[in-house]
Amino acid sequence: MSQDNVSIHGIWASRWVFILAATGSAVGLGNIWKFPYMAGVYGGGAFVLVYLICIALVGLPIMLAETVLGRRGRRSPVNTLRNLAIQAGASARWSWAAVMGMIAALLILSFYSVVAGWSLDYIIGMGRGDFVGIDGEGAGARFGALTADPLRLSLWHTLFMLVTAFIIARGVVAGLERSLRIMMPLLFVLLIILLGYSLTTGHFMQGVEFLFHFDLASVPDGILAAMGHAFFTLSVGVGSIMVFGSYMPKKSSIGGTVITVALLDTAVALTAGLALFPIVFAAGLEPSAGPGLMFVTLPIAFGNIMLGQVFGLLFFVLVAVAAWSSAISMLEPAVAYWVERTGWTRVRITCLVAFLCWVVGLGTVLSFNLLADARFFVTDEAGWHLFKWTEQGGKTFFESVDYLTSRIMLPLGGLLFAVFAGWVLGRDVFRAELALRHPRLFPVVYCLLRYVAPLGVLVVFVTELFK
Ligand code: PFF
Ligand code: NA
Repeated sequence: MSQDNVSIHGIWASRWVFILAATGSAVGLGNIWKFPYMAGVYGGGAFVLVYLICIALVGLPIMLAETVLGRRGRRSPVNTLRNLAIQAGASARWSWAAVMGMIAALLILSFYSVVAGWSLDYIIGMGRGDFVGIDGEGAGARFGALTADPLRLSLWHTLFMLVTAFIIARGVVAGLERSLRIMMPLLFVLLIILLGYSLTTGHFMQGVEFLFHFDLASVPDGILAAMGHAFFTLSVGVGSIMVFGSYMPKKSSIGGTVITVALLDTAVALTAGLALFPIVFAAGLEPSAGPGLMFVTLPIAFGNIMLGQVFGLLFFVLVAVAAWSSAISMLEPAVAYWVERTGWTRVRITCLVAFLCWVVGLGTVLSFNLLADARFFVTDEAGWHLFKWTEQGGKTFFESVDYLTSRIMLPLGGLLFAVFAGWVLGRDVFRAELALRHPRLFPVVYCLLRYVAPLGVLVVFVTELFK
C-alpha cells in the first residue's frame, strides 16, 4: 500500500505545487501578526534567536519527517501513521499522534478564523477611509470597538470560515493552486514595499536593534514561547505538512523543497518584523502591545502616508489571503481522514468539520467581550484553578486555546512524528523516501531527526517545568 503513487484525494502537478501549498500553509497570521507581537512581548532579540535556532534544529527536521511520512503513506495523517506503523511491525496506536494533531489544527482554525476576520473588517475600514489621519488613540479605540462587539466579530468569523470551507470542499488541488500563484507573490511584493516605507521613517535602526539586540537574561522567559511559535509558524506538529506531502509526486526531492518553505516563512516573519517595529517606534507606541499590535499600529502608518489607504487596503486583503491559504491546510487533515473513514462526500464532511470549528470559534469571539472574565489556568492567593471568573490573571478562552495548541500539542505532536520517522519507520525506508541529492548528508539529517529534534523539544519542556 505504501508503494502507491497516488492518493485517493488527488496529486500535485509537481513539487512546485507542494512548495506553493506548504508555503501557503506556513506563511500566514503567524508571520505577519503573531511573530511581531510575540517578539514585542518577549523582549525582541533573545526571543528571535531562540526562534531561529528552533526553526533550524527542530522545526526543519520535523517538517522533513512529516513530508516523508505523508508521501510514503499516501493517506490522511491518521491512516498514514496507522499503515506505516503496522508495516514496520509497531503499534497502530501511533495513529493517535496524528489524531491529536488533527484536533490541534481544528482548534487553531477556530481562533485563526476570528483573527483573520479582523483583517476583513479592516479591509472595509480602509476602503471607507476610517483611518485617514488617525492617531494612536483613535486606532486603539477603533480596534477596541471591534473586539467589544460580538456580533461584528461573529459576522467576519462566519464569512472567513465559509470561504475556507468552500475552497476545501472544491478540492485543494484544483481550487487553490491558481489563486495562490497570484496572491503569494503579491504578498511578498507588498511586504517589501512596506519595508521600504519603514526605511524612510527614520526609526529603522531602532527596529533592527529591537529585533536583534540579544540579552541573555531574557532568554528563559520566552524559550517555550519561541519553540511553540517555531512549530506554529512552520505548520508542523499537526499533520498539515504531512497531508500535503501525501499529495506530492513520487519523483521529487523532499530536502530542498522543505528548506525552501522554511526559508520563505522565516524571511516573511523577519520582514514583517522589520517593517512593523520602525512604524511602532515612529508612532511613539510600545512594541509590547500584544495581539493588537498589527491592528493598531499599522493602520496609523497607513492613515498617514501618501496612498496609504490603497496600500492599507491591499495589505489587509493580502493578510486575509495569507490566512486563507493557511486555514485550508488546518482543515485538510481532518477532512481527508473523515472522507477515508466514512466514504461520504468531501462537501458533506467539510460542512460538518467547518461547522464544528465555527462553534468553537464563538468561544474566542466572546472571550474578547462578554466572557472576558472567564479565565482558565488561574493562579492566585487561593491556589491554582482550572477555571475561575476573574478580571485578573489566568488565560481567556482565546489565550487558553492558543496556549494549549502552540505550547503543548504542536511540540508534542512534532516530537511524536520525529520519533516515529527516526526510530520506528526504519532507516532504509526513510533514506529511500528522502532520496537526498547529496547522500553523504544523510547521516547529518538522520542524526538531527533522531536525536537533536526530539531532545530539543524535551529540553524546552523540562526547562519550562522547572522555571
Ligand atoms: N503556519 C501558519 C501561520 O504561521 O500563520 C499557522 C498554521 C497553519 C498552524 C497550519 C498550523 C497549521 F496546521
Ligand atoms: Na508561518
